[in-house]
Amino acid sequence: MSRNVYLVTGGAGFIGSNYIHFLFERYENVKVVNLDKLTYAGNIENLRDIEENENYIFIKGDICDSEIVRKIFQEHKPDYLINFAAESHVDRSIGNPEDFIRTDMYGVYVLLEASKKFGIKRFIQISTDEVYGSIDKGSFTEESPLMPSNPYSASKSGGDRLAYSYFATYNMPIIITRASNNYGPYQYPEKLIPLFVTNALEDEQLPLYGDGKNIRDWLYVKDHCIAIEFVLHHGKTGEVYNIAGGSEKENIQITRFILELLDKPESLIRYVDDRIGHDRRYSLDSSKLHHLGWQQEHSFDVAMRETVQWYVDHQDWWKPLKSGEYLEFYKKHYPEGMSLT
Ligand code: NAD
Ligand code: DAU
Repeated sequence: MSRNVYLVTGGAGFIGSNYIHFLFERYENVKVVNLDKLTYAGNIENLRDIEENENYIFIKGDICDSEIVRKIFQEHKPDYLINFAAESHVDRSIGNPEDFIRTDMYGVYVLLEASKKFGIKRFIQISTDEVYGSIDKGSFTEESPLMPSNPYSASKSGGDRLAYSYFATYNMPIIITRASNNYGPYQYPEKLIPLFVTNALEDEQLPLYGDGKNIRDWLYVKDHCIAIEFVLHHGKTGEVYNIAGGSEKENIQITRFILELLDKPESLIRYVDDRIGHDRRYSLDSSKLHHLGWQQEHSFDVAMRETVQWYVDHQDWWKPLKSGEYLEFYKKHYPEGMSLT
């Protein structure tokens, strides 16, 4: 029986590595090629347990490098391409947009061109709810206009629409997903939840932006992986699918929940200057995906408890990441009052 070949780009990052784990748990007969540049956010430790698997191939490389991408297509003949590769952190995009524009837009172009030339059965572009911008009331549907408001979300919007254009213009089998904020294991400790959990574990301050009342909708990464796989097999080409977590929380609620789970005092919270251009609220309507048959499998409370416990149990994973360049970045942005060492 022939086996499906998945080309997963950005598979050494947070969601990509969870997705690769998910593929090997779900299928016996699958081959996964992981193309990842290993930026600061990529970490081969995330996939250490499967690196000996003969059906797993890791290639260190840049999705903007058309030569590497061409060779992968010629050698491995992927059936499916799932593009997770991106610069993904909003704060970094404010300081240095260039890498975002390059990877999140030009990189998508390189992957689309190779897919057009060599053929692909499905190309899933992992976009984000941030492309819609902020919404005070109600929720965005897939028909809502795009109004990205920071260099990260603007670059992601470019990649999102470029992918769509290859469906509309060349009739390629493109599907675009827009998910809300993910949480779970292997998330780089610069994002809200892993940063606050690991800071709290070290009795360090939790730098809450602005009034702490910005709202995000939280999606467990394992539910996200299930949804991507569902869309790959049941989604219609040329369509966009929102993937909501259905758990909208103010940042202060998340912060208090983390402190409660770790039995740490609220005095660790430190209100700091707001993020520039900080989107107030994200909210997705994912009834289109529900009508197709996808259901979330994990509740927020249980999945958050498991996530916090994962960081408690995997200090050897995150402690090395909270040094060097990472510390420099936060010291530069929050020069006063933040003690991270
Ligand atoms: P991440 O930053 O943890 O991982 C990104 C991965 O891409 C890393 O392994 C990195 O090394 C790799 N990469 C970066 N530039 C590359 C390049 N030029 N070539 C090859 N590899 C490159 O990001 P994440 O949180 O796992 O997000 C994955 C995708 O999901 C992104 O496209 C992001 O926009 C999207 N997304 C994320 C969330 C979230 O909450 N984290 C929500 C919705 C959508
Ligand atoms: O919504 C999906 C997006 O979610 C993804 O597309 C992005 O890749 C991902 O990084 C995430 O973006 P956010 O900006 O929402 O995530 P972040 O974890 O950076 O911040 C979540 C909220 O917490 C946001 O309102 C800013 C706030 N925050 C964040 C950090 C890192 C703080 O208050 N303090 C912090 O130190």
